[in-house]
Amino acid sequence: MTRVNDNYLKLKAGYLFPEIGRRVAAFCKANPDAKVIRLGIGDVTEPLPAAVLKAMHDAVDEMSARQTFRGYGPEQGYDFLREAIAEHDFRSRGAQVDADEIFISAGSKCDSGNILDIFGSDNSIAVTDPVYPVYVDTNVMAGHTGQPDDSGRYPGLHYIPVTAENDFVPAIPKDKVDLIYLCYPNNPTGTVASRETLSAWVEYARRNDSIILFDAAYEAYITDPQIPHSIYEIPGAREVAIEFRSFSKTAGFTGTRCAFTVVPKELSGTTASGQRQAIHPLWNRRQTTKFNGVSYIVQRGAAAVYSVDGQKQVRQLIDFYLTNARRLREGLGKLGLQIYGGVNAPYVWLKTPNKTPSWDFFDQLLQRAHLVGTPGSGFGAAGEGYFRLSAFNSRDNVEEAVERFRRL
Ligand code: MLT
Repeated sequence: MTRVNDNYLKLKAGYLFPEIGRRVAAFCKANPDAKVIRLGIGDVTEPLPAAVLKAMHDAVDEMSARQTFRGYGPEQGYDFLREAIAEHDFRSRGAQVDADEIFISAGSKCDSGNILDIFGSDNSIAVTDPVYPVYVDTNVMAGHTGQPDDSGRYPGLHYIPVTAENDFVPAIPKDKVDLIYLCYPNNPTGTVASRETLSAWVEYARRNDSIILFDAAYEAYITDPQIPHSIYEIPGAREVAIEFRSFSKTAGFTGTRCAFTVVPKELSGTTASGQRQAIHPLWNRRQTTKFNGVSYIVQRGAAAVYSVDGQKQVRQLIDFYLTNARRLREGLGKLGLQIYGGVNAPYVWLKTPNKTPSWDFFDQLLQRAHLVGTPGSGFGAAGEGYFRLSAFNSRDNVEEAVERFRRL
């Protein structure tokens, strides 16, 4: 008899976005003429920047000749991309990150789940609530929790509410927590962390010998010059933080797949016998064993993001989605809805009218306006009564969505 991983049975029925997809597919089947506008999953809609396409075409041509053909690449990523990232994303902002601390991967979602491979099973773990569901579900899969309670919370995780009541600022825990997941700009609330907030977390982590798993997949959407883009802009963060970044939302790579994780050489944890152990070699060992790298063609495309043309084109792309977010924010705000986020992030977070439960609001919006969003409770118990709209869509669809809200 072959045992399965029983921890999977503790998970809620389906991952949030497939569950939304299932409900929308059922609606579309029953209403084939409905013109459904999808502002649910944060999936980009605009084509890849021209500089990226050109670089990928050139790389395809290289693959066609024996002299320039590439087989297996370095598991950690090609130096041309790691160097470009270190220079443009970190050193240019005064954050010290070396190219060999950058590990290229196929996505932040995979990395933020896979990172648990290199940590022990008895760490105490903190997540914000609401939260990107991957952080919770991967800990459930790894057996770090008990069975969920009625609100969907798992014993074994320390939940830190981030709601309008605390201005979406996660309170520093009173007790010691070993691993802390932070995501800024935040998915799902679209809010940001100030330098003071991040400094307080770094200080906490240093005092408690904790590690922060910092997801900065949406940093390119920061418009406020006071807001840090990287946790390494905070002094002392190199000793206590891993950072996840992605080209998905920055350069439209959700279908192309390229991301990276930064593991500074100073970062360490402890072994069962209490010895200090650097994290960098563990992640390097994990990646070289379980991963064969991102394709050369895609890495060439990602590197083109840092060219002069690439930077301009990516800026236009981000400005386009940020304008969508502003249209949603302003349009729905005028209707009297309570709106958060959407200024330094592609997500608008709103309070459902009359405290309507999030999934009821989802169903009403789908049935009556043929609009798809994401129920706040899908991101955690403290997201109940909230709803997320993604700004990733065409301008016409965003304007039409605002109009449909008005007619509701
Ligand atoms: C979201 O909609 O929250 C994201 O697109 C999910 C992801 O990046 O995996």
